[in-house]
Amino acid sequence: MTQEQHKIILAAQDLVRLNLGGEPTGHDFYHVQRVVGLAQTLAKPYPHIDGYILTLACWLHDIDDRKIVYHGAHVGVDEFMLLNRVDQTVAQRVKDIIDNLSYSSSLLGKKETTLEGQIAQDADRLDALGAIGIARAFAYGGNKGRLLVDPTHATPATVDHFAEKLFKLEALMNTPLGKTMAHERSAFMKHFIATFEKEVDQSKTPLPSE
Ligand code: ADP
Ligand code: NI
Repeated sequence: MTQEQHKIILAAQDLVRLNLGGEPTGHDFYHVQRVVGLAQTLAKPYPHIDGYILTLACWLHDIDDRKIVYHGAHVGVDEFMLLNRVDQTVAQRVKDIIDNLSYSSSLLGKKETTLEGQIAQDADRLDALGAIGIARAFAYGGNKGRLLVDPTHATPATVDHFAEKLFKLEALMNTPLGKTMAHERSAFMKHFIATFEKEVDQSKTPLPSE
């Protein structure tokens, strides 16, 4: 990476700290930092990819997401690119990756067409899985005022999000290593959900009378 590119990555990191530092729905600075780290792990088998584009896309991937609770003065991705004089081709490639990254984009039929995009997408999905994924789901649901579980299914509860989305991610992974890691993390989540449901069932049984 050139010195200029390194400076831009540091600026992106500062922006995430400023905008998402204390974000309460599981999209905080450390979520983004984990995505950057996971992307580096997933990129190891592909030394020819553009590490600068990948890292910049990962740092900026949640900056313009409307479901997120921002704080501080909000600088968007476009403004960031202008302020930091990011090369237009690079800016466009990064914006394309971010546009196609989310689960809702994939439901609209959008796909990551570059290896950099596929790796960034896998990294973000992995952070929605496993023990961290469980913690993030309940943080998100709590912040949106949802119940942990609603046995009557009258309201959307966080525990329903696992079947609705999180267990579908494994099949959508792009890279072989991403798939392996997603499989391991999903297995842990399945164990958690099975235990969760067992405990809900146990609590339905009336206590034995004394
Ligand atoms: P995406 O944009 O692809 O959804 P993000 O990283 O922005 O990916 O956010 C996904 C995270 O948000 C997941 O960890 C997930 O647990 C949480 N999340 C989103 N919707 C819900 C929901 N309805 N209930 C619980 N968690 C949710
Ligand atoms: Ni994310």
